[in-house]
Amino acid sequence: MRLVRDIRTMQELSQKLRCEGNTIGFVPTMGYFHQGHLSLIRIARQKADVVVVSIFVNPFQFGPKEDFKSYPRDLDRDMKMALKEKVDFIFHPSEQEMYPKNYSTYVEVTELDKYLCGASRPGHFKGVVTVCTKLFNIIRPHFAVFGQKDAQQAFIIKRLVRDLNLNMEIIMGPIIREDDGLAMSSRNEYLNQEQREQAVCLYKSLKLAESLIKDQGERDPQRIINQMEGLINRLASQSEIDYISIVDTQNLKPVDRIQGELLIALAVWIGKARLIDNIILTTPEKADKTDIKE
Ligand code: PAJ
Repeated sequence: MRLVRDIRTMQELSQKLRCEGNTIGFVPTMGYFHQGHLSLIRIARQKADVVVVSIFVNPFQFGPKEDFKSYPRDLDRDMKMALKEKVDFIFHPSEQEMYPKNYSTYVEVTELDKYLCGASRPGHFKGVVTVCTKLFNIIRPHFAVFGQKDAQQAFIIKRLVRDLNLNMEIIMGPIIREDDGLAMSSRNEYLNQEQREQAVCLYKSLKLAESLIKDQGERDPQRIINQMEGLINRLASQSEIDYISIVDTQNLKPVDRIQGELLIALAVWIGKARLIDNIILTTPEKADKTDIKE
């Protein structure tokens, strides 16, 4: 495994590997690996000749009051974990390397960033899309793997690739969870023991929504959201709900009836950790044709 810090070297390496006929699989990350990251690396390892993992805590995707400075970082630990997964290259540029003085170019996917996390974190997805575009140009992968944990991010990146005709595939890997159902996240580090116990409320509220839809035939999104809210408030005294939304996977707009393929997503503050989680489910009823935009 090789650690690469500069862009020019990474570009030359990828170019050479491509010319030699290798398939390049790429997993973009901000590091501080957990099993969620490793599951994406394993997907890439299975499909590609060469696996590149980037570790870059991207300042552009953090708001001014967000946790950029305190975001957990441990390159040595990450390198050891990556080596065990047979990663070929770790791309770990500095901030200066990625965003030199007078940096002034941004990439934005419109519409899909209006809802869910895009609504509560203005500018976040512009930062994500910009850094991913740069990383795709540097690494030139045949495919990149993203987690369903950040479902809106994965949908937005898929749209970027389609709209800008990037010659690569986006694969979405499933959410990896702790034994009690809490989705793994680098930000779970911020939780103390009591908060950690309360954090399971996100997953439990999603399971409640699933059961209301599948077992009880509930079709009114607002009634489901109200019940999820009630459960979270009962289970977690230290929680503050940012949003709970039920949206169409085609356009990420909130639905007024449960039908078709839906994303149920939420963000909840537990202490100083903003946690997110989601499920994607399909009801037997098809969405109204008028709702389908593509
Ligand atoms: P980061 O939060 O480090 O996540 C890197 C990848 O791991 C993302 O695709 C994310 O969805 C996935 N992931 C995180 N937790 C997961 C879990 N429990 N199960 C499965 N996959 C999980 O997402 C980012 O970094 C950044 O926004 C990035 C894309 C690197 C751009 O800066």
